[in-house]
Amino acid sequence: MPSVRYRCAGITVETDSLDVTLLDVSIAHKITHWHECGGNGRCTTCRVRVLDGASHLSPPTRREAELAQARGWDPTIRLACQTSASGDVTLERIVLSEATASQLQAETVGREAGAERQLAILFCDMRDFTALADSNSAFDVVHILNRFFEALGDPILINGGIISHYVGDQICGLFGLDDADPARICSGAMRAAFGMVEAIYRLNEELASSFGIRIRMGIGVHFGNAIVGDVGHPTLRRLTVIGDDVNTASRIESMTKELGTTILVSRAVADRLADGSLSVTSTKMARLRGKRNDVELLAVDGFADPSPFALAQRSVGLLLDDPSAFAAQFYANMFAIQPELEGLFVNGTGAQGAMLSHMLRTVVSGLERRKHVPAGLQTMGRKHIGYGVELDHYDSFRGAMLKTIDDIMGAGLTREIEESWSETLDVILGLMKKGASAESRPK
Ligand code: HEM
Ligand code: FES
Repeated sequence: MPSVRYRCAGITVETDSLDVTLLDVSIAHKITHWHECGGNGRCTTCRVRVLDGASHLSPPTRREAELAQARGWDPTIRLACQTSASGDVTLERIVLSEATASQLQAETVGREAGAERQLAILFCDMRDFTALADSNSAFDVVHILNRFFEALGDPILINGGIISHYVGDQICGLFGLDDADPARICSGAMRAAFGMVEAIYRLNEELASSFGIRIRMGIGVHFGNAIVGDVGHPTLRRLTVIGDDVNTASRIESMTKELGTTILVSRAVADRLADGSLSVTSTKMARLRGKRNDVELLAVDGFADPSPFALAQRSVGLLLDDPSAFAAQFYANMFAIQPELEGLFVNGTGAQGAMLSHMLRTVVSGLERRKHVPAGLQTMGRKHIGYGVELDHYDSFRGAMLKTIDDIMGAGLTREIEESWSETLDVILGLMKKGASAESRPK
């Protein structure tokens, strides 16, 4: 009987069927394993590194071979949803967080040859860094810079961007490396910009009490063409982004200081978004350094009509802070609403709770942000038919979730957060039901 060993988790499991994929093995043994597209060979988040036993694996499917070639994978990287084992293998899962999932897009660029892409380019710079560096020890400056980059990097990564580079106290994020939809690309960049402002607000609370300082920053966002590729001495090549539009983005960021605003975007960004979707506080024609003509810049402070999912996305971390407690409470609530559902969990709900929490976190935070999530949810809905789940069970799931959110958040649950969860659940469960209905419809 072939065995699969998960190195980092230190778990070895056995599989008695040669037909199941490595992803199926993880799911059957309740080992959390990202599979954003539901196992359709599209998202690459299920990838594993094979450490031993590669000869016992099925050859790559055509889909996997194409992806491996386009992304330049070495042969030890395999897609778990496309691969099965006929003998013992040792592997490690590669994607364990949104940050790793997002940064994988860098592979879509023909690194050696370079590629021209339509991108949203975001620059963010810490203001008055020199004064901060002069008045703190070297140790503290490095600590503060690292906290700054951590706080600002997360919003880039969770909104579908990658961190391209740092220059001193400046960070550059790119959006759209593996996406061709300008509206989605620009809204990802804008969500990141607004997320950065919130992150700095929280960081400042901490820095004010530890160091007596507050960081101010400027953010510039532009949409245009850029050449992306690996550049540098052969011993130190880095993903680099080059082009006039990159310089424009950087200069827009510099203008924030002059115009006394935090976030400035070009007209090119605003035009890619639905009319009136940004909350614009002022508009100005300005001459960017090194440019001959004036350009229109918009100072913005948020979305005019924030996403209905935003508050659910912000509170999902708190809700799932203790995944076991969340799951225990959730299943108790669901079985109180519809007791016969307990019978579907033939293996009990213990380890299943970790799978549910992991998946909820992935899909809630991935809604609108990660393009494979909707298709993945439909596939999940189809798979749930096999677990005995029927369409009318989804209302019980919804009711149990809302009750659990109330139980856990208590007085912290505002009407707005509750409404956001309600809409988020409608979309998630709606997509699962859509997948399930398509499967059960007579062909
Ligand atoms: C209609 C309500 C639902 C019911 C009654 C239900 C029930 C089940 C059952 C019985 C299993 C199989 C457990 C086992 O094999 O031990 C399962 C697996 C799973 N469920 Fe659900 N479920 C529901 C909705 C959801 C939702 C909304 C999500 C997340 C968005 C979810 C996430 C999962 C995951 C991640 C698994 C592991 C297997 C896989 O990935 O296919 N379920 N569910
Ligand atoms: S590619 Fe395997 S789950 Fe998406």
